[in-house]
Amino acid sequence: DLPDRVTIYEVGARDGLQNEEALVPTAVKAEFVRRLLDAGLPVVEATSFVHPKWVPQLADAAELMTGLVAELGDTARALPVLVPNQRGLDRALELGLRHVAVFASATETFASKNLNRTLDTQFEMFEPTIQQALAAGLDVRGYVSMCFGDPWEGPVALEQVVAVGKRLLDLGCHQLSLGDTIGVATAGHVKALIAAFDAAGVDQARLALHFHDTYGQALTNVHAGLQAGVTTFDASAGGLGGCPYAHSATGNLATEDLVWFLTGLGIEHGVDLRAVVDTSVWMAGHLGRPSPSAVVRALAQS
Ligand code: HMG
Ligand code: MG
Repeated sequence: DLPDRVTIYEVGARDGLQNEEALVPTAVKAEFVRRLLDAGLPVVEATSFVHPKWVPQLADAAELMTGLVAELGDTARALPVLVPNQRGLDRALELGLRHVAVFASATETFASKNLNRTLDTQFEMFEPTIQQALAAGLDVRGYVSMCFGDPWEGPVALEQVVAVGKRLLDLGCHQLSLGDTIGVATAGHVKALIAAFDAAGVDQARLALHFHDTYGQALTNVHAGLQAGVTTFDASAGGLGGCPYAHSATGNLATEDLVWFLTGLGIEHGVDLRAVVDTSVWMAGHLGRPSPSAVVRALAQS
């Protein structure tokens, strides 16, 4: 039995743009976010309050959010943003933002490369950040990266991913997004990981799945997630994305591919496909390269 309805969690403005070589003007990012909201996407992650030297593409996070709040008020304050630490959270709180996400690594090497911490000490950074966010009444999502494989360490044990995920939930994250950062997951592995969380007492309702489409398996993996009862899926308009600290990471699952697939299954998502395609075509013009999404390419010509 598949769910009747799913939530698409749009990450194009964050995961998508963090990895682009071209620096996208703040006004274009703001229009991107507005157009994604107008297309009916229920959750639009907007940017990251990370160190600007680590991710120069998103160095304008405060400027972007200030402009969006001035224009859209509470709608903009409800847009999730990434915050790795207390400094990031303070920057988000100054602007009155209400939804933040911390991002953990399931592996030692990626914790070091992405966060300058060890597998264990990353939690010393998250614990006070999550506590302070909850005390301020915010909602905290927890990402886990490298859940299905790591470019430096190879395969990642299910128990290791469950242990990191459980720690984030125990610290107060309301939802876990399980990231296939480098796109190596297969449907059988997805099923096994969800079962491992279930065996550890974590209900599928608290899980989201975050696929990158490196091996073209992202939709098959979504199907495995749906069959296991997951109802939140991350996707990126036009299939933009990657991670600057994991060079083998290619684009995310394209929102358009996901919408096409869900519509075919009769699963409600509330998103206007044509509007997302038009947005991705417009954004591709700004980035100077065509969208890698098959659905965008097919529909852009029609
Ligand atoms: P660090 O160098 O260890 O930081 O970096 P620190 O705590 O030692 O502080 C050093 C300086 O940075 C200090 O300034 C801080 O104030 C400043 P100084 O006193 O020297 O003048 N600083 C900050 N400034 C602005 N905003 C901040 C901030 N924090 C410290 N938030 C840190 C540690 C976590 C900051 C760094 O490693 C970092 O920014 N990493 C971000 C990497 C990143 O954004 N990666 C991409 C997102 S994850 C992803 O894409 C995966 C995902 O999509 C899921 C999947 O696909 O798997 C989510
Ligand atoms: Mg990602």
